[in-house]
Amino acid sequence: MNQVAQNPIGIFDSGLGGISVVRAMMELLPDERLIYFGDTARVPYGSKSNETVRRFSRQIVNFLLDHQVKMVVVACNTASAIALDDLRGRWNLPIIGVIEPGATAAVNKSPSNRVGVIGTTSTIHSGAYEKALLTRNPNLNIQSKACPLLVPLVEEGWPEDDVLTGVLERYLSGYKQSPVESLILGCTHYPYLKEAIQRVIGPDVNLIDSGEETARMVQDILIEKSMAHTPVGQDAARKHHFYVSDFPQRFQETASRFLGRPLENLFRIELEVLESYSVG
Ligand code: DGL
Repeated sequence: MNQVAQNPIGIFDSGLGGISVVRAMMELLPDERLIYFGDTARVPYGSKSNETVRRFSRQIVNFLLDHQVKMVVVACNTASAIALDDLRGRWNLPIIGVIEPGATAAVNKSPSNRVGVIGTTSTIHSGAYEKALLTRNPNLNIQSKACPLLVPLVEEGWPEDDVLTGVLERYLSGYKQSPVESLILGCTHYPYLKEAIQRVIGPDVNLIDSGEETARMVQDILIEKSMAHTPVGQDAARKHHFYVSDFPQRFQETASRFLGRPLENLFRIELEVLESYSVG
């Protein structure tokens, strides 16, 4: 048996939004053990400088490596957009971001080449989705829109509120004038707004959930590299561990809402401890 295959998969996000990717992975890869890190003390990343997002991401990957992870999934779109190349240049294990899988799915679902991307300000300004999309199909017509108010609205738990509808109407108005075939939900929090977004943008637009696409890509890589976990008796297949850098107000409520059940095996890592994982 390949011993590395029995190790867990590390997955991180700027906060709790990445639990949307954890859910997709738990569903598709029930035999894998996950170690999640949510940087709840330093969220949001979407408005931070590139250098800061890279430094935070390096600390977290280094922390996950201490837990013998066999692969790292960067669930955060902002960190994927800004830090992925830096991380891949430093470590040899597979490091998967959410942008490439999302871009591949959008290209496949847009036969007339019209794609939209929504995300945090940093993700959109980085141009990472455009780059990934155009590498796959240079003839695409891409319309990107930063939607910074959506993260706080999801955190507040207002998925069906009039305020949300008004904000979406405003952010998505460009797509009504110039329709797209697919819209990439380029932020961990947006899958929680799928229904509201579909209602506002119209039923004909394919919504691309980067988290679900990433889970599929992780599955392909595990098979290709013979790294899929083989369940042995009562082993730790389902013992996922969740680490956070802070327990903010209403933490349990938000976390359980995102996961669909209470978080178990939850630990807090002091920021000073996390900072001691600094590299370069
Ligand atoms: N996780 C971030 C992302 O997917 C959203 C929250 C933040 O700004 O940190 O871009």
